[in-house]
Amino acid sequence: MPIWSLLLALCTEGIQIGEVSRPQSLKVLQWNLHSECFLSCKSTKKAPHCDAHYPSCQQHATSLLRSLLAEVDFAGLEQLSDPSFFDQVDSHELGHLQHQCGGSQGYGMYPFDVATIVFSARWAVKETAGSPLTIGGCMDKVNESSKENDYRAYVGQVFVHKDTGLELLVLVAHYPHTGKYEAGVQMMAADLAQLKARAKVDEVLLLADTNQQKSNLEIMQDLDPTARRVLGSDVHLTCCYPAYFFQYDRIISSNFESIGSQATTLPFGNENTHHVPDWATLNMHDPVLVEFLVPESLPRSGGRSAALQLVPVVLALAALVPRTSC
Ligand SMILES: *[C@@H]1O[C@H](CO)[C@@H](O)[C@H](O)[C@H]1NC(C)=O
Repeated sequence: MPIWSLLLALCTEGIQIGEVSRPQSLKVLQWNLHSECFLSCKSTKKAPHCDAHYPSCQQHATSLLRSLLAEVDFAGLEQLSDPSFFDQVDSHELGHLQHQCGGSQGYGMYPFDVATIVFSARWAVKETAGSPLTIGGCMDKVNESSKENDYRAYVGQVFVHKDTGLELLVLVAHYPHTGKYEAGVQMMAADLAQLKARAKVDEVLLLADTNQQKSNLEIMQDLDPTARRVLGSDVHLTCCYPAYFFQYDRIISSNFESIGSQATTLPFGNENTHHVPDWATLNMHDPVLVEFLVPESLPRSGGRSAALQLVPVVLALAALVPRTSC
């Protein structure tokens, strides 16, 4: 390419930067780490439902998790069975909310479950009359002599974006398999409908190990028959180590008028380029990341000011390009 056309391209690009503004992005992680990663085979004697190289999986997985959390607005985690994980996380940077089920045999020991929402400092918990808008429960009972349900955790919370005022309900869930799916969904659906009404929020973000092969639309409409504008992560075989046959892990949004598109990233690669780390243990799922984009044309205070902030950059770039060449 001749140098003059390169400079012309740069000039044109420079002009465009001022007009094309940065879309608002919403980044989300879904990951079922599974309890085996956090249990020592020596102390539990539960092989293969434990890590033979303990604490290798726990150390590597939590280290990867910390780096993934630095990039996202929200994370939905199932069976992050490390009770001290948040002791090492700055609570000013990342907030979290959990619902635990079971654990009578010990933390992380079946029947046990924990669903976790992690949220970045860009978001605040929405409250009414001083109390947070939260739901949580356990959808299944493994130990029939236990008084309460002891498995299949979910947790939900309503958030407000500190700059844009966007409100949304985030629901994290570890669904039961087919057979117990309908009863579990019925329980969550009732809670979800009530929380939506109480919070006056329609926008829902579901982060889940759904244990279903259904489409994103079917999964969301099972939970909320009024769901419109359903967008979701690309469906891949993310379950589970060491044999990947199931497309269970989903990030699904509904009722967002403002979301324009979504892009899925798989940190362990897809079906063609799968590179699962050697520290993974039985039943660990692949993490899934989605970036939703909100086009700037919609009325958003954050997007507009971002565009204005770029003007000095454009002017500085223009000054660097010799006037005669533009
Ligand atoms: C089942 O529940 C009963 C009553 O809570 C408890 O005593 C027992 O230890 C539990 N068994 C298992 C295997 O969790």
